[in-house]
Amino acid sequence: MAVFRHFRHCTFWKLIVILVLATIMLQTWHMMMLFQLESKVRYKSSNGEIQNEVFPGKNDTSQGQRQETGGSIEYLMKKMWEKVRAANVFDQSGSYVVIDNILEGSNIEENRTQDVTIVTQCSSNHLHHLLTLSKIWNGPISVSVFTHDQDTQFAIYTIAYLIACVKNVSKQVLFHIAIPVQNLPIPFDLHDTTVSCNDRTDTVQSKSEHLNYGVEGVEYPNNLLRNIAIHAAKTSFVFIIDIDTLPSPDLRVSFNVFIKRHKQFIDSSSPIAFVVPSFEVNSKVDISSIHTKTDLKKVWSDSKVRPFYFELCWKCQRYTDYEQWGQLPDFDFLEIGYFVDWEDPWEPFFIAKKSDLPLYDERFRQYGFNRISQVCESYVKGFRFAVLNNAFLLHHEFKVPKNFHAKKEEEQNRNRQLFREFKKELKLKYPMSDRSC
Ligand SMILES: *[C@@H]1O[C@H](CO)[C@@H](O)[C@H](O)[C@H]1NC(C)=O
Ligand SMILES: *[C@@H]1O[C@H](CO)[C@@H](O)[C@H](O)[C@H]1NC(C)=O
Ligand SMILES: *[C@@H]1O[C@H](CO)[C@@H](O)[C@H](O)[C@H]1NC(C)=O
Repeated sequence: MAVFRHFRHCTFWKLIVILVLATIMLQTWHMMMLFQLESKVRYKSSNGEIQNEVFPGKNDTSQGQRQETGGSIEYLMKKMWEKVRAANVFDQSGSYVVIDNILEGSNIEENRTQDVTIVTQCSSNHLHHLLTLSKIWNGPISVSVFTHDQDTQFAIYTIAYLIACVKNVSKQVLFHIAIPVQNLPIPFDLHDTTVSCNDRTDTVQSKSEHLNYGVEGVEYPNNLLRNIAIHAAKTSFVFIIDIDTLPSPDLRVSFNVFIKRHKQFIDSSSPIAFVVPSFEVNSKVDISSIHTKTDLKKVWSDSKVRPFYFELCWKCQRYTDYEQWGQLPDFDFLEIGYFVDWEDPWEPFFIAKKSDLPLYDERFRQYGFNRISQVCESYVKGFRFAVLNNAFLLHHEFKVPKNFHAKKEEEQNRNRQLFREFKKELKLKYPMSDRSC
């Protein structure tokens, strides 16, 4: 009898366990079906095809990490919009709200310290440059985005699109946002935005054609944006560039090899700027065909390439000494070509140790003197300027005067005055320095 009772007891519990398991399986199946249904409904593209790319990781385990970031455009937009609304950190002047690393938890490798981060800044209509830049650089990028009023919807959409749909961006790029207090975002309905990775560059590319500096009544805080992005960079070296320029394809890898061979530059207490000669390329040239210095020199000899700012401000670049650079042989590894002395008003683009670099003076906004003031301070601080052979930076279009906005002259005059003040202040800041600019 006791045995029988035990047996019955056993069957009863077995039954319970089987029922529980069955319920769990049915529930799981049900939820999977619901999830698939939902993703089909929400991410149907305009032509009715289902976008697998929005939900990578479902089949492909190599992309599994992307789900951690959130995966879907709409989810990322929601997350960013919540952060924008809750933002309560201001810049020193109190005129801008700053949101550092708006999608923290994106798949940036935390401890890759011995590397170079590209530091850059833009308004939302220039974000599309990250499509190419992130692929060419194939390494960490820290970008500050300026947005305001109704532009914020587009800015947030574009960042979400890039993270959800472009693997290079989701793996490499940290985004930060600055918004003027006087022009806070206009709330918008998240569901208004069509969400699809099929949108490709059409929607991400400049909806509005306005220039950074050309928005009436809104000051573009270029130096604040640069500082935010420098601050967030997680590597020991930074390379501060304009977002519409492209470094030579192997620059990051070869710089990292170079710095490994020359450990003295990491430990040295005397700061050094590794100057990357910059050029403008005729817009008819396929810029992706320029891989090496040899390629560049070929197009250069056809006058389809010229030094950066050749027409706009030749004295701002000429001390790079393009002639000497052109004559150095094209090695297949990175080396210092030569050192140059800084001369006013030289403003090269360069790679430097983040810990050496003076921050930008955030009083400079809009056009004029914003970069030069920082290069000038670097010089007074004791930087040496080493021009790198084999490395270059390209702007895909000749820069010509007519592309500028109306108030350029006015802003330049105001900033010239500020620059005079700035130079006086440098004397007090570096009393031991025998350099001035
Ligand atoms: C995912 O798997 C399903 C079913 O096995 C297949 O039909 C679909 O093409 C796969 N998607 C991708 C992106 O590989
Ligand atoms: C980061 O650090 C961990 C632990 O020290 C190490 O295992 C890993 O390889 C590092 N990753 C990189 C990219 O250096
Ligand atoms: C980024 O782009 C480069 C060049 O196209 C490619 O080799 C690399 O695998 C990409 N990285 C990721 C994470 O997609």
